[in-house]
Amino acid sequence: MPGTYTRVLQTSEVPVGTKKAVDVGGKAILICNSENKLHAVSNICSHANETLECGRMGRTWIACPTHGARFELATGRAMNPPAVRPIKTYPVRVVDDWIEVEV
Ligand code: FES
Repeated sequence: MPGTYTRVLQTSEVPVGTKKAVDVGGKAILICNSENKLHAVSNICSHANETLECGRMGRTWIACPTHGARFELATGRAMNPPAVRPIKTYPVRVVDDWIEVEV
């Protein structure tokens, strides 16, 4: 149901500086823990539909491992070519040590 938060992972499963791919209602989502701030973004690159989960993660971005486009974690904005379109971002929260995503 739209607007519903879904429990996806325990906070201990995504330590600072790591990321983990999850499936929420058929959507491929990447949970990223950058500097102790959680982000939920699409796991699918907007350039050629490759997955982002093996890409490098910086303080504010995730890089696509296939052709190197970077996306801003907070907004999904494409920061450099070859991607020009953003990736989707999702609201994320922590409740009782569980990471929950709104899809
Ligand atoms: S598939 Fe991601 S930059 Fe090309």
